[in-house]
Amino acid sequence: MDIKDTIDKTKLPEHVAIIMDGNGRWAKERGQLRVFGHRNGVAAVRDTVEGAVEIGIKYLTLYAFSTENWNRPKLEVSALMELLVNTINKETKTLMDNGVKLNAIGNLNQLPTKCFARLNEAMQKTANNTNCTLTLALSYSARWEITEAVRQLAKKVLSGEINPDDIDENQVARHLTTCDIPDPELMIRTSGEQRISNYLLWQLAYAELYFTDKMWPEFRRNDLFEALATYQNRERRFGLTSEQLVKK
Ligand code: IPE
Ligand code: IPE
Ligand code: MG
Repeated sequence: MDIKDTIDKTKLPEHVAIIMDGNGRWAKERGQLRVFGHRNGVAAVRDTVEGAVEIGIKYLTLYAFSTENWNRPKLEVSALMELLVNTINKETKTLMDNGVKLNAIGNLNQLPTKCFARLNEAMQKTANNTNCTLTLALSYSARWEITEAVRQLAKKVLSGEINPDDIDENQVARHLTTCDIPDPELMIRTSGEQRISNYLLWQLAYAELYFTDKMWPEFRRNDLFEALATYQNRERRFGLTSEQLVKK
């Protein structure tokens, strides 16, 4: 049976977050430069986005470039930024054809001007699409995001707009870059690494984690479906006991 047919469409996660990892190693295994891996990662992004729309995932968030990635060799960073611009240009049509709204989170001011401009154009063009929201985490790290939220809250307290006693979990969540997006129920990381690497630390509090040895350039929609099938076999207890969940 097709893996897709084993998935219960009524029990899909609303939001899937992915750490796209392993481009460099995939290229190296083929005797190529790391950037060859990044270029081949674009097909994986396209197929995953289309697969997400096909199955009915409403929010997909992809970790494309972390705050820490700025410390990579200059040549790799500029190649990645160039690739980003070209990919956005080329793939806007794919987003329109699939009804995907593009969104971005991260310290976007740090992006090269051209990159930032293309990103904004694509976001505006796709703003009315409703099938799925694709969020790119760019120049993003969760500690940066949480620090920003704390700063904003501190300013509001200082100006008298809010009282410190009013700060609860909802307030904090509303000051994160993901304020309009539900928390991911499923987080996938490729390449065999089993860590979070400063990704959505607050939002992943109760996410199911799924790790695959596949390198990102080889990831396709069937791998996403495989992860969804695994997710549906997990028991999400949220601190309760199994017995309590059955009663609910
Ligand atoms: C993921 O692949 C892409 C980015 C982090 C930009 P890597 O470039 O991290 O590839 P590996 O992990 O070194 O193989
Ligand atoms: C995480 O991958 C960031 C992205 C996928 C964009 P890294 O390859 O940068 O993470 P580490 O260094 O292995 O933790
Ligand atoms: Mg990596």
